[in-house]
Amino acid sequence: NDLGVVAVAFSGGQGKAGVDAGPDALIKAGLLLQLQDDLSYKIHHDGQIHNYRDLMPETDPTVDNMKRPRGCSAVNQRLHEQTYEHAKDGKLVLTLGGDHSIAIGSISGVARAVRERLDKPLAVIWVDAHADINTYETSGSGNVHGMPVAFLTGLCKHEIFSWLKDEHQIPLTKLVYIGLRDVDSGEKKILRENKIKAFSMHDIDRHGIGKVIDMALEYIGDDIPIHLSFDVDALDPVHAPSTGTPVRGGLTLREGDFICESLHETGRLVGMDLVEVNPMILAKEGGADTWQVTETVRAGCSLVRCALGESLL
Ligand code: ARG
Ligand code: MN
Ligand code: MN
Ligand code: MN
Repeated sequence: NDLGVVAVAFSGGQGKAGVDAGPDALIKAGLLLQLQDDLSYKIHHDGQIHNYRDLMPETDPTVDNMKRPRGCSAVNQRLHEQTYEHAKDGKLVLTLGGDHSIAIGSISGVARAVRERLDKPLAVIWVDAHADINTYETSGSGNVHGMPVAFLTGLCKHEIFSWLKDEHQIPLTKLVYIGLRDVDSGEKKILRENKIKAFSMHDIDRHGIGKVIDMALEYIGDDIPIHLSFDVDALDPVHAPSTGTPVRGGLTLREGDFICESLHETGRLVGMDLVEVNPMILAKEGGADTWQVTETVRAGCSLVRCALGESLL
């Protein structure tokens, strides 16, 4: 059981400070030790929490409505190489964020390795309150963490991200969303026009999470490796309040853990991101509530453990 871990202290895909402290908080809470001692993974981690400061341009002005595009691109290009290196010899890859823009690098690196090793595409299950599929043209905020899926699927291309090649991409037919409840109107149009498979909170209410997972896995098909990109804001803010863009009416802890457990059960999970844990956000907004931060970090650790087999009896 080999597990590659990349810790990414990056917040440039959005505007709020503190999400770069996410990986440190998760690791300090004991996540990697739990995976090693309780789930007996052999952990391959360089011991670093990468801030990629050497890659950051001194000034990084908005280009085509993308904020901090050069930093976002450079970090993701490096991260792409890191996840690729782990995945190319068959390790499961865990990427701890950081804001969700880092999925551009983490997923493209895994997708490239899967393509080379197995000559197959990578399926992505994107668990999130948000679709993160804005292009730089449809985005209202200009934040790249609202755009990673558009880059990963080739719906959006930009010269600044020219390192991202076609063979690193995810087919639109192998992408499934779970947990959506705050989707911009431009994004809804993209989802509709491309017939992208999406299970919103409404669908989860209607069918229950068990049925939704069954439908998601059936849609992807039997034989395809899966990457789970889990934005902690998919959980209800009651359970995960310490995140930059919380949206009420989200997943319960058990629903989140269940998604992760079910993907573990497939035996086909090859990568996971856990992103948008921001241990500083509440403090900054004047309502420092350490308990809420602790709860969010605990929830994040639980999601990862479940995806890696914690609840196997
Ligand atoms: N749709 C909004 C935007 O594009 C919010 C995105 C939130 N993304 C996230 N990874 N939390 O700015
Ligand atoms: Mn989100
Ligand atoms: Mn919104
Ligand atoms: Mn997201």
